[in-house]
Amino acid sequence: MSEPTDLVTLERTPAGVAVVTLSHGKVNALCVDLLEQLHAIATELAEHTARAVVVTGGPKVFAAGADITEFAERSGEEPFALAAPDRVGRIGDAFLRALNAVAAIPCPTIAAVTGVALGGGCELALACDFRVAGDRSRFGQPEILLGIIPGGGGTQRLARLVGAARAKDLVFSGRMVGADEALAMGLVDRVVEADQVIPTATAWAQDLATGPRHALALAKAAIDGGLETTLAAGLRLEQELFVQSFTTPDAAVGVRSFLAEGPGAARFD
Ligand code: COA
Repeated sequence: MSEPTDLVTLERTPAGVAVVTLSHGKVNALCVDLLEQLHAIATELAEHTARAVVVTGGPKVFAAGADITEFAERSGEEPFALAAPDRVGRIGDAFLRALNAVAAIPCPTIAAVTGVALGGGCELALACDFRVAGDRSRFGQPEILLGIIPGGGGTQRLARLVGAARAKDLVFSGRMVGADEALAMGLVDRVVEADQVIPTATAWAQDLATGPRHALALAKAAIDGGLETTLAAGLRLEQELFVQSFTTPDAAVGVRSFLAEGPGAARFD
């Protein structure tokens, strides 16, 4: 079992960017302890304590998915015993809580993907708003090759992002896709050289961190909330948040600046 400390770290840049780094063994396997720490950090970030967030696994690997050693009652010991349903339920619940907390962070979030983002690693990247990938990175939902199915959003967020048929291709086959194919299908947003992944994601986050934080939070809530409902309900949600946006300091700064100085001159607090 991993130690329940330092599996996820949080650093903050002066520009208001929070950098969340996974650190667990060779491949950042997402054990329950790590997911609980990620949940705690994401919950802290949900309190509007950052203006943009980068999630990374460091320079070598993003994450190779759920910690498969937790899928057996006694890892490496005979006789083999698959994890019992209540234990699997705790693993699934840890994924649901942690990745939902990441998705609920009310500012732009960027996954900086080096190496592989497989299974739960791909699902964590999907819980972010954007994905920057290294040119040799690989993505996939290989759970089917273990005889199981994704349990951290791989059948849901993936299908919403790239469409049902592409999601079924990845989930049914378990195959990995390289960065270029991932870019072509909309699974990633930018592909850069491997050593530029974290700098590119951080620079993008710093740029977003200068934006109108209240308006960005409302825009994210409108888009993500709308994707969970019907078009009619989504349009109503947008109207509600559109009106709400006029109550924030961002609107006062932005509209006043436009009328006095023209477009693009506003500087937000
Ligand atoms: N959980 C636990 N341990 C894992 C792991 C996971 N998801 N993925 C890899 N590891 C471990 C390996 O057992 C190995 O441990 P060891 O060095 O103690 O033997 C170590 O990480 C390195 O993996 P290895 O396969 O030797 O390295 P590689 O570079 O050849 O391949 C991966 C790396 C990630 C591509 C490959 O290990 C892999 O496909 N992992 C499984 C991914 C997966 O199925 N994820 C979904 C889980 S539901």
